Amino acid sequence: MSIKVLSVFGTRPEAIKMAPLVKALQAEEGIESVLCVTAQHREMLDQVLELFELTPDYDLNLMKKNQTISQITSGVLEGIESVLQEVQPDIVLVHGDTTTTFAAALAAFYQKIPVGHVEAGLRTYDKYSPYPEEMNRILTGNLAELHFAPTERNRNNLLREGMSDAHIYITGNTVIDALLQVADKPYEFEEETLKTLDFEGRRVITVTCHRRENLGENMVHIFSAIRDIAREFPDVEVVYPVHLNPKVREIANEILAGTERVHLIEPLQYQPFVNLMSRSYLIITDSGGMQEEAPSLGKPVLVVRKETERPEAVEAGTVRLAGVERDTIYGMAKELLSNEEAYKKMAQAVNPYGDGQACARIVNHIKEWAANK
Ligand code: UD1
Ligand code: UDP
Repeated sequence: MSIKVLSVFGTRPEAIKMAPLVKALQAEEGIESVLCVTAQHREMLDQVLELFELTPDYDLNLMKKNQTISQITSGVLEGIESVLQEVQPDIVLVHGDTTTTFAAALAAFYQKIPVGHVEAGLRTYDKYSPYPEEMNRILTGNLAELHFAPTERNRNNLLREGMSDAHIYITGNTVIDALLQVADKPYEFEEETLKTLDFEGRRVITVTCHRRENLGENMVHIFSAIRDIAREFPDVEVVYPVHLNPKVREIANEILAGTERVHLIEPLQYQPFVNLMSRSYLIITDSGGMQEEAPSLGKPVLVVRKETERPEAVEAGTVRLAGVERDTIYGMAKELLSNEEAYKKMAQAVNPYGDGQACARIVNHIKEWAANK
């Protein structure tokens, strides 16, 4: 009898990190893979589904412009109930720390269906930072039966919280599986700005920023520092594919639009985006996933946050916490643009997050678990 695995995700980063896993589940004998997307994100989710050629079996189509976290939570809870009843899966897989993650895990728990948590055990131990992700992943961890922890540190976090060692598996992060599937393929940019950008003669800084705790004053600081850098270094080009959140777009437009050599563009498909990162000189971001991808590409990252749940790359030297103060961010970026030694020290390829085999490990653990149930 086959094991029925229902994977649920809803936002861009979950889709990127779950796509190779869903592919691996689909290809595995003895597993029946069913996919439900909540579409907490719409366009940014569809970009990933298209790239990985995934067609969801269920699409809750939940995205509404500017909806609150409570609205997303109740939408997922209500929407997924009938899917769970219809599919009757042996296990529900969720990923990471979004509202889709937590609400889907809760809905599965209500129906006493075991939950597998992919990317388990990341922690800052500050419940409001990142917000609401830190609480989402703690709550999901408590609801889950199986914990797929990317690193040893993540496993230790879960053990400290009293999770059973028997059901924590160190697998690496599936984002590296996704990255390796697209990074080496030859690619020519189609996007207008990138097509004509002189990646050889200029130093390109890739920027992304979207975290809820950065909306408002922090973002003003971050974008002002980036504008200062662009003004000071004539060989720098800033490329910022702006997140579709209207609140982010408003601040980005207010501070960065019209600045010479700063290019505000639409969110990129994963393949062009990986190529943009790999051809960049430096990355400035508050994204979680990019802190995992950039070290593999050997690209220095300044993280515009006060803390990180991904200290492995900081310890390895590729990632630095730059905080959210304008002067500090400016100072750190300036150093990397002016001091070759400092730059070279950070621009080392390291792989603290995996070897591209995380999905295969997760599939095997699910099969073993099901066989011993
Ligand atoms: C969500 C997650 C966050 C994750 C991030 C990745 C929650 C509470 N937040 O944050 O953990 O890191 O996704 O990007 O789960 N929008 C569109 N089209 C899209 C996507 C978003 O128009 O394809 C706009 C909508 O107006 C939407 C808004 O962006 O209401 C915010 O989206 P939402 O999912 O609430 O929060 P994010 O900031 O994207
Ligand atoms: N990404 C992308 N296109 C973009 C910007 C980011 O494909 O224009 C990818 C990026 O490589 C990473 C993921 O999206 O894998 C990060 O998503 P996001 O910043 O939305 O969420 P977070 O990582 O903070 O959870």
